[in-house]
Order: sequence, then structure tokens, then C-alpha cells
Amino acid sequence: MKQSWWKNAVIYQIYPRSFCDSNGDGMGDLQGIITKLDYLKELGIDAIWLSPVYRSPQDDNGYDISDYQDIDPLFGTLEDMDELIAQAKSRGIRIIMDLVLNHSSDEHPWFLEAKKSRDNPYHDYYVWRDGVEGQYPNELKAGFGGPAWEWVPECGQYYLHQFSVKQPDLNWENPKVREEIYKMIQWWVDRGIGGFRLDVIDQIAKEPDRMITSEGPMLHPYLKEMSKAVFQQKDLVTVGEAWSATPESALLYSNPDGSELSMVFQFEHILLDQQPGKEKWDLAPLPFVQFKEILAKWQKALYQKGWNSLFFENHDLPRSVSRFGDDGKYRVESAKMLATCLHGMQGTPYIYQGQEIGMTNTRMEIEDYRDIELLNMYKERTEKGYSKEEIMESIYVKGRDNARTPMQWNDEENAGFTKGTPWIKVNPNYADINVEKARKDPDSIFHYYQELIQLRKSLPILTEGAFDLLLPEDPSIFAYTRTSKTEQLLILCSFTGQELPCSLKEQWKDEEVLISNYDQDSCKDCLRPYEAVIFSRKL
Ligand code: GLC
Repeated sequence: MKQSWWKNAVIYQIYPRSFCDSNGDGMGDLQGIITKLDYLKELGIDAIWLSPVYRSPQDDNGYDISDYQDIDPLFGTLEDMDELIAQAKSRGIRIIMDLVLNHSSDEHPWFLEAKKSRDNPYHDYYVWRDGVEGQYPNELKAGFGGPAWEWVPECGQYYLHQFSVKQPDLNWENPKVREEIYKMIQWWVDRGIGGFRLDVIDQIAKEPDRMITSEGPMLHPYLKEMSKAVFQQKDLVTVGEAWSATPESALLYSNPDGSELSMVFQFEHILLDQQPGKEKWDLAPLPFVQFKEILAKWQKALYQKGWNSLFFENHDLPRSVSRFGDDGKYRVESAKMLATCLHGMQGTPYIYQGQEIGMTNTRMEIEDYRDIELLNMYKERTEKGYSKEEIMESIYVKGRDNARTPMQWNDEENAGFTKGTPWIKVNPNYADINVEKARKDPDSIFHYYQELIQLRKSLPILTEGAFDLLLPEDPSIFAYTRTSKTEQLLILCSFTGQELPCSLKEQWKDEEVLISNYDQDSCKDCLRPYEAVIFSRKL
């Protein structure tokens, strides 16, 4: 298998509006990111995935694009973008753009034309169905609530929107649409972009009449066409967001022959802590044994036949330390444990901004939330008669704004994120949890991440070694090995605040410890609360 640069890379995700504000308007921007490149270099990452910064009405914080070839004035200009690419490059960091290709904004010039009439040359850029006002073509629901169809009287038709009404679905069946998209991607490649994250890519080949929204029959043919047209050049990295991905489909998406993408984000492990068949807001405890089983299944299935992306957090998910760890007493230990668990596996690890300092979920008044998904749900569930307490509880646990509070840089006003009024409230714990403090403390989560990233760079076994799950039925310990011809690693992680006896640790006690979140001497046969350790032995 060809060794591509992104196989031992670590990728850092920036949510630009919440990262760093350089001009005091309360909104993070490109110049703000440029001022933090040295920080990211110090952390040791290889590439930055930027959530969308294109021109957009910001209905869904930029995932609704009205011009794919311009930067939204909120974030800066094309010159700022060129400067960011160049400044990052001079530090050995590549910039990965977020491509939102399933839908555009309803304010995109294509859609403004398309909705004028059925004969408009752009009409067929979107997905339309005939119908009668008030009678939807079918029962399809939109991702952010309500029906997936919106009536346009000028055309006497409905258009499809799998997300908000302001995000009309592009019609991939139209070859002109695909051509325009490839041209636009090439334009970014020529500007020096190092790769792309492809938003809800499994949804582009929809067949709404058959109620098919993801993994439609044409998905893989389209991906192959796009890959050939634009991705198979300049060592680009491409990662598709695919909520519906299975290990079988991932073998296609991430085929090592490079015919589609480098890898996909799969969400099987992320979808576990909700009630079966219900929405993410219907909370349920994490079935830990199944969590391990699923991650192990992905490790095994893609070994030497595909490639995994590794993540516990992104801009759509709650903070991992609050979700899978303990954001109170054992915040530091559990954040390091989760990092060990993830970075020990095979695949490309992703760090979401603030994860490297153990940022946590937040709790705000409903008026202070900003996310369209969460606000729509609040309205819908209130109308359905859910109690306010119940709704707020699910927002605290699952709301996307948990990950979108401003990055905590220091203990000054607004956590050093802005000199103005932040677009969303800073998490009040910033005086304790911030970058400045973490950089000064040699035992911080930040330094632990730095060490893990260095390990990945120095130990090929972390990139290549075979994965095997141990203790599959254990209700609190996540244990696995990575094995090469000459060496074996044992990754041991405790997911509980109790001290546990652990004979596996006892068996390895004389082997070399590569990294740990505790001092090893005081307990040779037990795991302390949220303990994590990587042992290494020669074979
Ligand atoms: C993806 C994005 C999310 C966005 C949605 C619609 O899931 O990650 O933030 O709302 O697509 O574009």
C-alpha cells in the first residue's frame, strides 16, 4: 500500500467563527487564525480542516454557501485566505477546505435563477418535483425539522432540501452541475489547498422518489468521477462525512487505489448514546461494550484495505470529555485517557479546536443558543408538549453549540477570543481551562497531546500495526494491542472514576511505558480513575 503523507498525519479542525477574532466584531476570522499558527505548530499538527469560510448568509453557520469562490466578509478576504495558505505552508501545515456539495444556499446565484421559472437554464441545477401547494410530493423530512420540500409558486413546484429551507439540494444528476463543481474545486487546488472535507457526501446521490437520501446507487460512480477529475493530484487528502457509512461502503470510499477518497468519517460509535430508532435528543447511556465492539470492527475491516479517520469530537458533537469522560473531578485524566484511546488506533486522528485543552460542554439560557438545529428542535418539542427541563437537558448533553463556544485562549475578558461581544457566550470555565494556562503546565492535556502526536511521528507501528481488541466484555476497560513484525503495543484505558484491578497491566508491568496519564510506580496491577497507558515490547 502506498504510504501517503496523511496516514501518519494529525489533522486539527478549526471552526473559524469561534477560533480567534482579530478585528473585534465578535466573530473569529482568517487573520485571527494566522496569529495562532505558531500555537498549532507547537502542538505538532500537520493540517488544518477549516469549517466553511465561503460567502454565505450564515443560516447554518456557513454550511449554506452563496459563492464557492469567495470568502465571507465576516471572515476576511481572498487575500487573507491566500496569506493563511502561505503562512501555514511555511510552517509545514496544509489547509483543508470544507466542501459543501450536497446543497448550496438559496441565495446562491444558481438558485436565484433556478427558482424564476421551469425554463430557466439553472432550473435543473436543483431537485424539483411537481405538486400542489400544501400537498408535499412525499413524506421526506428535513435534517433540521419539518418537511424536506418547499413550494415555489413561480414554478408551481417543490424543491428538495435535506437540511434547512435555505439549503436547497443540488441536482447531481445534471452533468453541468458536476462540471461546475469540479471546476470550482480545481480553482481551490490551484490556490494551494491541501485537501478537502466533503460535507454529507453520502447524500449527494439522492433519489427522493424512492425515499433514498443517502448512499444512492450513483454515489460511488459520482465520487469516482470527481476523484478522477480533481482529487487525484498533488497528494491531496480527502475525507468524506458519511453518517450512513458501513465498513463495507468504507472499503469503496477509502479504497487504497485512490479511486474515491482518502477516508470517511463514520458515525456508528457516535450514534450509540441515544434511544434506538429515536432522535439524538432522546438520551440514553453509552453502551460501552458495544462502543468498543464497533470501533474494533472498523479497525479490523479496514486494515490494509481502506483507511479510518479517528475522531470523538467535531463542530456538530458535544465535547468528548463531557460525553465519554468526566468533565468534573477527573477532567484532566479523562481527557488524556480519551486522547490515548483514540490516537492509539489505526487511522488519521482529528483534534477539534479546544479538545487539546479539555474544553467542556456548556449550559446557557435558551436565548443564548444560536444553532439552527437546536432552536428548531426546541420549538418543535415545545409544541409537542415536552417539558422545558427535558428539552434543556438534551440540549446540555447533545446540542451542537457545546462545541461552538469560543476557543479559550487565556483568562482575560472573553477568554482572549475577542475584544468585542462574542457571537455566542464564552464557557464560564475559561479562567480555569485555557491555552495560556495549559502551555505553562508541563502536566497539561495540551502537552499530553503534543507527546501523543510526537509518538505517532516516531513510531511507524502506530500508523501500520494491526489492531486487536482485548477484554471485549469488560464494562470499564478499553484494551487493545497494535502489532508489527518486531514490536507490540498495549493500549490500556479505563473509562471509569473507580480504581480497578487489572491483571493485564500486571502482565505488562516490566515493559517500557511510552506514555501515561499517571505515574506508573504506585500501581502495577490496577488502573486508577481514567488511567491510560501505552506499553511497548519487542517481539
Ligand atoms: C454537516 C455539517 C453540519 C451541517 C450539515 C448541513 O453535517 O457538519 O454542520 O449543518 O452538514 O450542511
